[in-house]
Amino acid sequence: MSVTLVAGNGRITVPDILNRKQHTAPSSSPEHSQQSPDKKRITCLTAYDFPSARLVDEAGVDIILVGDSLGMVVLGYENTVPVTMDEMLHHTRAVRRGVKRALLVADMPYGSYHTGAGEAVINALRLIKEGGAEAVKLEGGERRLEVISRMVEAEIPVMGHVGLTPQSVNALGGFRVQGRTADTAEQLMRDARAVEAAGAFSIVLESVPRELAAAITGELRIPTIGIGAGPDCDGQVLVYHDLVGLTAGSTPRFARRYAELGEEVKRAVREYCDDVHAGTFPSDAESFHLPAVAGTQTKQGK
Ligand code: KIV
Repeated sequence: MSVTLVAGNGRITVPDILNRKQHTAPSSSPEHSQQSPDKKRITCLTAYDFPSARLVDEAGVDIILVGDSLGMVVLGYENTVPVTMDEMLHHTRAVRRGVKRALLVADMPYGSYHTGAGEAVINALRLIKEGGAEAVKLEGGERRLEVISRMVEAEIPVMGHVGLTPQSVNALGGFRVQGRTADTAEQLMRDARAVEAAGAFSIVLESVPRELAAAITGELRIPTIGIGAGPDCDGQVLVYHDLVGLTAGSTPRFARRYAELGEEVKRAVREYCDDVHAGTFPSDAESFHLPAVAGTQTKQGK
């Protein structure tokens, strides 16, 4: 069998993401985070279904993450703990059908990589082979060394995730900023180094002080992707529904809203209901006619 070498056909690949590492020491001035002039920071957004995946992909995001946040955002669970492999596969397949350019990463749900490296590799392979993901993401640092190495050995690109790891909500006792003391900051640095040493191609830093995220970003050779970790990371990730204003209730302070689609959707639905009640929807132009009636109407100039 011969293999045709392709340049990627415009698709974003794992080597492309590795190549976006800034390799510039983070700025000491909080107001001016530096960026290598030839390397744009990495953009990453979640998507959980076909239409949002298509929109996010067409808008030019680099990485689309089928996050297990889907448990809270679209399935209405209280946290991400109940999310299953079947749910991740179902949503990953839908997103796959909408993504043409971005790198597609799927989250490993809680329980799918906690019972041994063998089972973790089998579950990760399902997300790749059945879901169509190009990489998987999993939470945890030093304690995930073996699992990540085994996946990388099986040619599965892995994105790490340290700091606030929502699947640990029961162990952590809630969602709060991590790495604020000298000891926990050192542990986080060790965790990030372990993820890199295990062979991950990138790492999410969630809810950690800006200074710590900058130090980890300066230390690692793989790109860091921040969420609630300040502007000095190599890239940023947000939850799609937070960004477009579809999240109900309060959102974390780092979740900047770029649109108010929730309000816009409610306005449109109210208007539709008013039109139905008033009998102004559908109009005659929005109706079908029998051929004879259509002809009569045309003659009458309607
Ligand atoms: O599940 C998710 O959406 C995530 C991102 C917030 C990083 O893990």
